[in-house]
Amino acid sequence: MAELWPGLGGPTISYISRPPSKRWRRAWPRKLVILGSTGSIGQSALAVVESKREDFCIIGLSCARNVKRLAAQAERFRPSFLGVLDAAAAYRLKRLLPKGYSPCILEGHDGYAALASLPDAATVLSAQVGSAGLAGTLAAALAGKVICLANKESLVLAGDLVRAICKRTHAVILPVDSEHNAIFQCLAGRGQEAASLVLTASGGPFLGKTKEELHNVTVEQALKHPTWRMGTKISIDSATLMNKGLEILEAFHLYGVDPSRIRVLIHPQSVVHSLVELTDGSLLAQMGAADMRLTLAHCLLWPRCEPAGAVPLNPAQAGALTFHEPDTQTFSCLTLARRALKQRGGLNIVMNAANEAAVELFLQGRIRFADIPRLIEAAMWAHTTDEPGAPLSPPLTAKRFPALTREVHLLQQRIERLDRQSRNVVNNMANDGEQQK
Ligand SMILES: NC(=O)c1ccc[n+]([C@@H]2O[C@H](COP(=O)([O-])OP(=O)(O)OC[C@H]3O[C@@H](n4cnc5c(N)ncnc54)[C@H](OP(=O)(O)O)[C@@H]3O)[C@@H](O)[C@H]2O)c1
Repeated sequence: MAELWPGLGGPTISYISRPPSKRWRRAWPRKLVILGSTGSIGQSALAVVESKREDFCIIGLSCARNVKRLAAQAERFRPSFLGVLDAAAAYRLKRLLPKGYSPCILEGHDGYAALASLPDAATVLSAQVGSAGLAGTLAAALAGKVICLANKESLVLAGDLVRAICKRTHAVILPVDSEHNAIFQCLAGRGQEAASLVLTASGGPFLGKTKEELHNVTVEQALKHPTWRMGTKISIDSATLMNKGLEILEAFHLYGVDPSRIRVLIHPQSVVHSLVELTDGSLLAQMGAADMRLTLAHCLLWPRCEPAGAVPLNPAQAGALTFHEPDTQTFSCLTLARRALKQRGGLNIVMNAANEAAVELFLQGRIRFADIPRLIEAAMWAHTTDEPGAPLSPPLTAKRFPALTREVHLLQQRIERLDRQSRNVVNNMANDGEQQK
């Protein structure tokens, strides 16, 4: 354990999972399923695979409804299984596939879960967006897969549950998110001496703006991230700083550290992807280009370290690197995330669902940018629980595998129910607001 997963276990850091088995490390080409292959992360992952064709065998790909892109990917990589959101998407996809190639097409959340647990798959990249990624992550964890985890919402919603499943099934988590991947790399051999984890944040397109200036910003402005090219939802999350809030919860669950030991620093250049502060006061940083192919290659090829298409960073051309504290008065999502982490009792599920609903409303032009944190906060205040800590700290009790699966499904249903209720709360508040105008 110490040699393979250096610095990830011990008194200061308690990593979410054990290291992958020797069998997995030796089995090349790696048999890979990508959930969310048509998205920004999915496409970058396929670019890594393309640059290392002999090292991977793609056995499953999925999208929601972008079947045109999925069909093109399928034609190139010829997986035996494809996943789509519904029957209509499956029908359209079939018509786009080339003659003589008939993969099995799976539908809906059960289909994604089946894809994530295919017996042949050794590695699953969880890269669907939002809470839609939970079903696939949980299924992959139950099936004991090595999970390259981009879908941070899975840990925000069910980090304790994922940890508990990994303990039982020996599933493995490799962090794709650049900040958590940077911390993973910095901790190598130094975990026993880690004092705090420092997540860096670019600050997004509205860095330095006042609350008043944020009132009338447009969708187009909010989507214009200064340093990263990403999907729509995470781009808006970066503009509100909710992305960093979600990452605080992600770091808490991945590394098992007290929330007081997770700091956030604004670093507009996005060169230092995150830092680990050691007990002697020194800092370890991981630096690189703002290119997700770097962290994807790190996870997909782990423990090999090889070039996979990303342009190396030239520090001489990086310019001055600056760091400062975030403005939590203007960007209150950071404070909301810390509150959700402190209180739990489902508040993290409410916060995540309210954020997803509010981001969608903003993208549809139905609310203003400044309404996003306002609606999330209102949904969080509306949530009451007499079960502090639940449903997120489930001591899984089932002994045998079928019973364990049933127990996990029940917990998943509770999470999904609260997720739906919280979205309704936000949508109703937005409707009321529109009627009063
Ligand atoms: N982009 C980044 O640089 C980055 C960095 C770190 C972490 N992440 C995380 O990685 C995840 C993916 O982000 P992204 O930027 O790649 O998102 P994205 O570009 O929006 O892609 C999302 C993927 O999920 C699929 N999808 C959307 N709704 C779905 C649903 N209801 N059910 C199943 N699949 C669905 C999409 O299919 P369609 O194409 O058919 O819509 C697409 O394949 C997020 O959790 C994000 O926080 C992203």
